[in-house]
Amino acid sequence: MIRKWWKEAIGYQIYPRSYLDTNHDGIGDIRGIIDKLDYIESLNVNLVWISPFYPSPLDDNGYDISDFKGVDPQLGTLEEVKELIEKAHAKGIRIILDCVLNQSSDEHPWFIESRSSKNNEKRDYYIWAQGKDNQPPNNWGSFFGESAWKYDKLTDEYYLKIFSDKMPDLNWSNPTLRQEMADIIRFWLDLGIDGFRMDAIAHLGKDMTLTDSTLESDERGIAYDWSKFSNRPQLFDYLQELHQKVFSHYDIVTIGEVGGGAKFPEGYKYTNPQNPSIDMVFNFDHTWHNMPYGYEVLTPEKFNTNVIALKEDLDYWIQNSQKHNIHPPMYWLNHDHPRVLSQYGSLDYHRESGSMLGMVLLSLPGTPFIYNGEEIGMTNVDYTNPKDFKDVNTRNYFKNNAHRLTIEQMMNHMRYTGRDNGHTPMQWNANQHAGFSTTTPYLKLVSNYTTINVQDQENKEKSILNTYRTMAKIRKDNIQLFAYGTFELIDAKHPDLFIFKRQFNQEKYILIANFRDYEVPYQLPKYQEVTFHNYDNLANAKLRPYEAILLKES
Ligand code: GLC
Ligand code: CA
Repeated sequence: MIRKWWKEAIGYQIYPRSYLDTNHDGIGDIRGIIDKLDYIESLNVNLVWISPFYPSPLDDNGYDISDFKGVDPQLGTLEEVKELIEKAHAKGIRIILDCVLNQSSDEHPWFIESRSSKNNEKRDYYIWAQGKDNQPPNNWGSFFGESAWKYDKLTDEYYLKIFSDKMPDLNWSNPTLRQEMADIIRFWLDLGIDGFRMDAIAHLGKDMTLTDSTLESDERGIAYDWSKFSNRPQLFDYLQELHQKVFSHYDIVTIGEVGGGAKFPEGYKYTNPQNPSIDMVFNFDHTWHNMPYGYEVLTPEKFNTNVIALKEDLDYWIQNSQKHNIHPPMYWLNHDHPRVLSQYGSLDYHRESGSMLGMVLLSLPGTPFIYNGEEIGMTNVDYTNPKDFKDVNTRNYFKNNAHRLTIEQMMNHMRYTGRDNGHTPMQWNANQHAGFSTTTPYLKLVSNYTTINVQDQENKEKSILNTYRTMAKIRKDNIQLFAYGTFELIDAKHPDLFIFKRQFNQEKYILIANFRDYEVPYQLPKYQEVTFHNYDNLANAKLRPYEAILLKES
């Protein structure tokens, strides 16, 4: 195993619009992150990933970018970004940004030109095709639940958009476009950042024959066939080209977002050290193991963490990564997922479950990423008005299901699964607007901020916040073991407990975690020391609700 700084880092993802508002407009800003650097440092993290802050019409929370080299004036200035990088570096904290390569906003100057005429020199920056009998060019569906094509009157053609209508896909088969994107990447690297989380990276290559999917279509004639634009062979050429031209000239980390479906050996192709392209990939496999398969409408009774499946998926990625000598990032949630406390934890055992989840995450191999708010156990929303939801995916869901579900059913579903759950403002204290802002936030707060907030947990020894801090410190102090050590599941088929052993040279740790809100019989193995425990004492022959223990083995 070759040692690298990014393999030994502890990550923290910040969703800037929702972190801290310093100029009283209800929107979090870059200055807010600068102001919170001491707090970030106190978490013992040293690699911060910042979600997009680029100029954007905000159709998709800033992933629809209208100027790839700019900063949204609502969030700050390029000068402030530089200041943030410098001040973070002075604390030994590295900064990576979201790099969005798959699409631009339809309000990006390139697209405005591209759509203006079939002969425009930017026409081929995007993917245009003629319709068939007043229908889209083919039956492909988008990730946001509609056709993957949008008709454009001006030139009587359709453009490809695998996310929202306002997010036309860039045409990576065009070398000029690839050159432009490489320049953008260089621009940010030259500003001093330490790498990228590379958004939707699996989709840069498309089936350019644009032939219909043979998968079954829905009642609107749409087939949701991700294989038409995921993990396709050309993609790996594009990434290797970026590596040769740009990445290899900097000491950085690149982490691709590769959603479901990229099993090994595909998972390996992205990060194959023999054929360098990017350093790590995020996959989603372990993030939804509490949903009944094929769920229609969710109800609380249907919710149950499938602990065996959760362990299997994590084990699959960890073992394969270690076998192929690659390094996986680890996380419970990001800005596309519901809150993990509401998924695998419990409001009734808030402190216990939130701290248990932190102990598991920070004991796994790879490079962990904590998502802002996770460190205090922030929860899903308690919205009661459909208008409180702002996310484009949720808006489409309401629109497309209104004919068959009640408002209450749809609301309930989104309170469990919607992306707004992870976007609500950070809960700093119990004051009005949770200390996030002095004015009404752009997205409604979760009302439990009066009890779940940073200030409340600051001085409590075993609060979720202090558990994350302590566990990150333990990890840092034993980084070779936690980053590179072997991983062995113990009692893999146990339906309630997640137990694993980590070993590096002669050193061994065992993490024992109860994923249930009830007691589970259990006999502790022999140990040398209790390194960390989220309860005050050990019980006899059982684990209490969400109890977690990190043991050093003799
Ligand atoms: C990624 C992002 C998600 C965004 C999509 C389109 O999946 O994480 O938030 O909607 O890409 O950029
Ligand atoms: Ca602001």
